[in-house]
Amino acid sequence: MEPTFHIGNLPVYGEAILSPMDGFSDLPFRAMARRLGSAMSYTEFVNAIDVVNVHPALERRLTYSQGERPITFQLFDDDPARLLEAALRLRERNPDIIDVNMGCSAKTVAGRGAGAGLLRQPAKVAQIFSSLSRELDIPVTGKMRLGWDEDNLNYLEIARIVQDNGGQLLAVHGRTKKQAYKGEANWEAIAEVKAALSIPVIGNGDVRSVADIARMRRFTGCDAVMIGRAAIGNPWIFAGLDREDVPAEQVRETMLAHLDAMLDFYGAERGLVLFRKHASRYISPFRLSTEQRQQLLTSETPGDFTALVDAFADEPVFA
Ligand SMILES: Cc1cc2nc3c(=O)[nH]c(=O)nc-3n(C[C@H](O)[C@H](O)[C@H](O)COP(=O)(O)O)c2cc1C
Repeated sequence: MEPTFHIGNLPVYGEAILSPMDGFSDLPFRAMARRLGSAMSYTEFVNAIDVVNVHPALERRLTYSQGERPITFQLFDDDPARLLEAALRLRERNPDIIDVNMGCSAKTVAGRGAGAGLLRQPAKVAQIFSSLSRELDIPVTGKMRLGWDEDNLNYLEIARIVQDNGGQLLAVHGRTKKQAYKGEANWEAIAEVKAALSIPVIGNGDVRSVADIARMRRFTGCDAVMIGRAAIGNPWIFAGLDREDVPAEQVRETMLAHLDAMLDFYGAERGLVLFRKHASRYISPFRLSTEQRQQLLTSETPGDFTALVDAFADEPVFA
C-alpha cells in the first residue's frame, strides 16, 4: 500500500487522525482509535515545565503502545529554551515525532504566551522550530489556529515560519484563539495554508461525519484530517462508519472493551470515574430514560455498569 503522506521520512497510511484532546486522548482511547483506523497518534498536550520538573502525573500521559506508531508527543510552553530541554528529555522515551502546540485557547495557557499565545510571537515560533529541529533527530511538527482574533489572522506568516525553520508538518484548526470552539471552522484558510506550503498539512475543525473527511480533503487539498469532538463516543468514524450506522451490539462491545482498557490503565476506581465522560457520549443516541442514563453514569463499580448495560440491552431503547 502506498503511504498517504510522509512526515520527514516517516510514512503515514490513512487520511483521518484522532486529535490531541486533553482529558480524552489517553492511551486507551488512542489505541482503540488507532486500531479502528486513525492513521497515527497524538498524546494529550504536555506542559514543558512539568517535563523539566519530572512531574509524576506525566508518566501516564506519555505512556503509549507500540501499535500506535507513529506516536507524537505534544508539548506546550512559551519559553524556547525550556521547550528544547523538555523535547530532548521526551526524546529518550522514543516517540516518532515531537509536536508544538500553538492552538490551545485556555486562559492559563494562551494567557501566558503558550499555545495560541505563540501566534502573537512569530520570532519565538521561529526560534522554537529552528532549535528543536536542529537538536532532535526526529521530525518536529506544529498544530496551530488561524490567529489570535479576526483582526490578527497571521496563519500564513506562522505557517511559513514553521516550514522555513524545519517544521515537517502543520496541523491547522480553522478557528482563532478568540473563537475558542464557537462559530464555524474556516476551511478556506486551511486551503490557503496547504497551497502555501510544501510540507504536509492536516486540516482540522468541524469534521463530524465520514463524508466530511472526503469533503474537507477535497475542499482544502489537505493531506489528512484531524477529528476531535466528533470522535468521542464515535471512534468508528476512523473505520468509515457514522455513529447511526454502528449496530447497538457493536457499541456495547466497544464500550465495554474501552472500559476494560481504562480499568487496566488507571486502576478500577479512577478508571471507572474517568470512563464516565466517554460513556455518556457512547449512550447519547440511545433512547434511555433520564433515570436509566443517571443510573449508568453513576454506577459505582465496573460490574454494576456492565450489568446495567446488559439489562438495558434487552430493551428496545438500546437500539
Ligand atoms: C476537550 C478538548 C481537549 C483538547 N485538548 C487539546 C490538546 O491537548 N492539544 C491540542 O492541540 N488540541 C486540543 N484540543 C483541540 C482539538 O485537538 C481540535 O483542534 C479541536 O477540537 C477542533 O477539532 P474538532 O472540531 O474535530 O473537535 C482539545 C479539544 C477539546 C474539545
